[in-house]
Amino acid sequence: MTTSSLTQYFMPRIQIDVHTDAADLDAMRSELRAGLLSTPRTIPTKYLYDDEGSALFERISELPEYYQTRTERELLAKYAEHIIACTDAQELVELGSGAATKTRILLNVMHRADRLRMYVPFDVSEGIVRRVAQELVLEYPTLQIHGIVGDFLAHLEHIPNGGRRLVVFLGGTIGNFSPTNAVKFLSSIYRAMEPGDYFLLGVQLEADVARLEAAYNDTAGVTARFNKNILSVLRARIGADFDPDTFDHSAVYNRNAHRIEMRLRARYPLTVYIRDLDLTLNLQAGEELLTEISTKYDRPRAETLLAAAGFLTQHWYTDPHALIGLALAQKPI
Ligand code: AVJ
Repeated sequence: MTTSSLTQYFMPRIQIDVHTDAADLDAMRSELRAGLLSTPRTIPTKYLYDDEGSALFERISELPEYYQTRTERELLAKYAEHIIACTDAQELVELGSGAATKTRILLNVMHRADRLRMYVPFDVSEGIVRRVAQELVLEYPTLQIHGIVGDFLAHLEHIPNGGRRLVVFLGGTIGNFSPTNAVKFLSSIYRAMEPGDYFLLGVQLEADVARLEAAYNDTAGVTARFNKNILSVLRARIGADFDPDTFDHSAVYNRNAHRIEMRLRARYPLTVYIRDLDLTLNLQAGEELLTEISTKYDRPRAETLLAAAGFLTQHWYTDPHALIGLALAQKPI
């Protein structure tokens, strides 16, 4: 007995694959150049999430104004048993896993049902994937963790297959995509799945504009710091000499497009030099860089999106105030 438990204790239960290589460096540079030179000038949203950005987002999720995270957590807590019973999953794959706080709700239910085999956290931030893996192997003594550090637009095919899978994409991050790109993304998730596997999608629902805008303009200024951190990321990655203090945070709801648009606005005329692109940007006073869209859905639009990618929506869960929606869908057998 002693021998076997020792063996098990030292058995490596964590594997982490990091998908970044030299080719990505060129891709990153051309993507950033294209974004900065397009109209409107845009910085891809994923650059918000270095280790500092991920930590700031964790703080956002605890702000009084940012109701989304806690509402979704409560919704999951209420329906996790139902979800797991429907899916009979042994492997949980989480796209954009971040700090994986909501994940534990699902892992607990799978564990109690004696179904839990593997957890696959997939995130752009290596620090957070490693931390979560270390924490979870201690919390779940038999769980295998296969983390993937990468861009979930590029590296989905690396998701391991350890039995019936439940793929989850929570937090309303689907809202970061335009409708066209959302369908493309859901289609690539669909292709990475086996027939019979399940997909749980969390969407933020349309709400009162004042409430929505308050969630992205918190009085403590954490969202502003989160937004401006993208400039520090560009400084580190491509040698851009942005000064975050010369920009203002802006987050406004666009009713026609059903989305919050987050921007950084130049306070006065600025010249920014980007070393690795050998590019000089001249920004006028008030000129803006678009850093994020966060689309709000309703049930019909969410189901249309899933259907366009091939999924069959089987259940729809929402909270009493209809702030968050969870769609449980299946890749048909
Ligand atoms: C993680 C994309 C769901 O859009 O609400 C929070 C990110 N940005 N505050 C969101 C975010 C500003 C968040 N998502």
